[in-house]
Amino acid sequence: MVPAAGRGERLGPGAPKALRELGGAPLLVHAVRALARSRSVGLVVVAAPPAGVAEVVGLLDSHGLDGKDIRVVAGGATRQESVRLGLAAIPEQTEIVLVHDAARPLVPVEVVDAVIGAVRGGAGAVVPAVPLADTVKRVGPAGPGRPEPVLDTPDRATLRAVQTPQGFRRELLAEVHAKALAEAESGGGPAVTDDAGLVEWYGGQVVVVPGHEEAFKVTRPLDLVLAEAVLTRRRASDGF
Ligand code: CTP
Ligand code: MG
Repeated sequence: MVPAAGRGERLGPGAPKALRELGGAPLLVHAVRALARSRSVGLVVVAAPPAGVAEVVGLLDSHGLDGKDIRVVAGGATRQESVRLGLAAIPEQTEIVLVHDAARPLVPVEVVDAVIGAVRGGAGAVVPAVPLADTVKRVGPAGPGRPEPVLDTPDRATLRAVQTPQGFRRELLAEVHAKALAEAESGGGPAVTDDAGLVEWYGGQVVVVPGHEEAFKVTRPLDLVLAEAVLTRRRASDGF
């Protein structure tokens, strides 16, 4: 399932991020193609911007993605809600679900297959991850007119930056999303930024497989420049 309903505030003014162009096709089309490249993927459900469902259906048609079963649903106000709405469109007999950001257009199929392989191998929840290049510091709140104080520096060797697709036993993912919804309705619930985070919150085990530097998320304008460069390099090497 592909959450694609975000606005892309950090990318700056323009169309919703998933519909912004990269090398002649919207980010969303790249992301769906990247998943569809895996022989194990049978169905792709896209959570589109609520006002853009018809447009997304048209885009996926016109970019020749009609080989696989592709369904489009209206996304929600948060990523978590978009994923939950997408999950509802996945048949119950489906055993494994991957959740992949539309904003990660260039994920190599090897990462997709590694995630699927780990779930098939018995893991309930799997994330692709890469080591960090930067040192990370935890900070406290800045006082009035004062800079943020550093609290501590976690050991970088134990940290990973996680990517998507994240892979799950469908039942487990549906269960943690349902619990989070019930808690949110009574004013609580986890504030996490990925699906594996929900599994962790409810005490489930999540494991890591190697991610890939080209699975980076297009978040800020510079990321789009990098994505164009990666795509150009790929197209040049395909030409040889
Ligand atoms: N997403 C979604 N529904 C939302 C918010 C986000 O489906 N209500 C999706 C985005 O479309 C994106 C993925 O979740 O594919 C990762 O989110 P992020 O990179 O934060 O994208 P945006 O929310 O669009 O960007 P920003 O936070 O800068 O506004
Ligand atoms: Mg966001």
